[in-house]
Amino acid sequence: MVLPAATLVLLGSDLSRAQPSVEPVRAPIVLTGADMRPAVSLDGEWAAIVDPYSNGFSTYFRNLKQQPGDTRPIEYDFSKSPTLKVPGDWNTQRESLLYYEGPVWYERDFTYQPKGHTHIFLHVGAANYRSWFWVNGKKVCEHEGGYTSFNCEVTEAIHAGANFVVAAVDNTRLAEGVPTLKTDWWNYGGLTRTVSLIEVPEAFIDQYDVHLSRAPETEITSHGNDPGIIGSLHLAHIDGWIHVEGGKLGDKVQVEIPELKSKGTGVLTAEGRAQIFLVASNLERWSPETPKLYKVKISAGQDEIEDLIGFRTIETHGSQILLNGKPIFLRGVCIHAEAPFRGGRAYSDKDAETLLGWAKELGANYVRLAHYPHGETMLRAADRMGLLVWSENPVYWAIQFDNPKVLAKAEQQLDEEIETSRNHAAIILWSMANETPNNEARTRFIATLADHARELDPTRLITAALLVRTEGHTKIVDDPLGKALDVIGANEYVGWYDQAPEGADTTEWRVDYDKPLIMSEFGGGAKAGLHGAENERWTEEYQANIYRHQLAMFNRIPQLRGLSAWILVDFRSPTRNLAGIQDGFNRKGLISDQGQKKAAFFVLQKAYLDKTVGKAE
Ligand code: GCU
Repeated sequence: MVLPAATLVLLGSDLSRAQPSVEPVRAPIVLTGADMRPAVSLDGEWAAIVDPYSNGFSTYFRNLKQQPGDTRPIEYDFSKSPTLKVPGDWNTQRESLLYYEGPVWYERDFTYQPKGHTHIFLHVGAANYRSWFWVNGKKVCEHEGGYTSFNCEVTEAIHAGANFVVAAVDNTRLAEGVPTLKTDWWNYGGLTRTVSLIEVPEAFIDQYDVHLSRAPETEITSHGNDPGIIGSLHLAHIDGWIHVEGGKLGDKVQVEIPELKSKGTGVLTAEGRAQIFLVASNLERWSPETPKLYKVKISAGQDEIEDLIGFRTIETHGSQILLNGKPIFLRGVCIHAEAPFRGGRAYSDKDAETLLGWAKELGANYVRLAHYPHGETMLRAADRMGLLVWSENPVYWAIQFDNPKVLAKAEQQLDEEIETSRNHAAIILWSMANETPNNEARTRFIATLADHARELDPTRLITAALLVRTEGHTKIVDDPLGKALDVIGANEYVGWYDQAPEGADTTEWRVDYDKPLIMSEFGGGAKAGLHGAENERWTEEYQANIYRHQLAMFNRIPQLRGLSAWILVDFRSPTRNLAGIQDGFNRKGLISDQGQKKAAFFVLQKAYLDKTVGKAE
């Protein structure tokens, strides 16, 4: 067989990294509120070619068809290839792909009529892990990071009428990746969230921030001579900014909240950014009890976005967490973005409502979305349903903390997470990392991320899930990384990885920070339906017993301000292979992957509903 030149080059190099394209492409951009813009969906069945040897990088993106008289054979044909659903991971769509890690090629034909004098973007909700995109054979962008959305400019590549888009997605794990080689969750590959086309005017709003200021409300009381004011009026301050890509110095922008008859305008700087400020009377603050969302119109020139935003403040005061100025205790649970019942990556409203519905049923007012950004669908549901959110950047376990390239990747993912999701009232905590080794390179790396996050968003709290060390019967939270955080997260498994459940009764806690502490993980495993003695591992009784002893222990930790049990639902993990019990699943769920509630669910539910665990102050 005569190999084409490009393939020969490939054979020489590391196959999984090779990609032929030399043409420079514009980096994808973030579009805040992209899911609120009118869009042409490209979801549905896409032709797909599984390409374990990265053979396609020399030609598949051209989507060629064999023509009579061709001098060489074309050895692929998307139109004859089986399909994969988008959005969706490929692992649960075909048994043969459950363990597959490598490149998969996707192709989709579509028709489009550009409006003219606009920008057209290919919006990708998420693609795990690295991805490359071509429209009509023209490279439009590439991306690394499996859990954040991005937008590729396709204006020059798209035609009026028939078009095709080709995507290569490769979920190969990388030592220098974020996350890196080992995770305790399934490495689902694919176009795992919605894909669409978004068209915007030449000057368009790419990012905006609209939030309730922490400044106290202004009270205006009537002195009887102002007919407009009866008694007193509380004016809330809403701050923010708008950035207009292609906007010119002096251009006007506006934010309007019709329901509150409130409007604010701003003027663009040379950098295309305008500060905005509004006052609003009778504003109903967002909280888990009252998840009030307001329609907010953001406009600049020809462009307008209508978003649904809740207004609340979040801050700390010593070891207290204050929501809307009042101390709060976070009664919560951790969640992986995995669809109950059908399995695979969660992406739909139904997936989000099922998962968050169970959290509400548990009596939770907060959820930790582990260990990566869960996407706009989940966050919109949390806004609607009134659940406070811990959102996390996938800096998980031992990534390469001394590698500047890896820091750049972690910052890029953090940028995309915060810039996309900054207007969700539900999100109160940006988590920088989970269970990272206590060494200088790590502390420097994550402290840099924390500073970066604060710069991007000074309105929220910065946290991370820390490992805890033990001396005798004392658990000690003194990881130096705690200095860089507003809220300390700590993971512990007393009763599972460490001692018997009763061990919690004699466990003391020393927390070396006068900051709020969240027990960001605790719990143990059980196979749903397996019953036995309380000291028999893997039974529901054993798991429930862990929870009973944990709850008592928690009430002995003065600065504890939140709990997120590990985990709401059993989830797939390649590291869990105990036959007959785990079978490829982490079984620490309070609910099985098929929706069966375990005894521990009811133990925690009772404590949350009766509010017998935890103190807000
Ligand atoms: C860790 C980790 C989780 C993991 C859990 C477990 O703490 O953060 O990702 O699944 O423990 O061991 O079950």
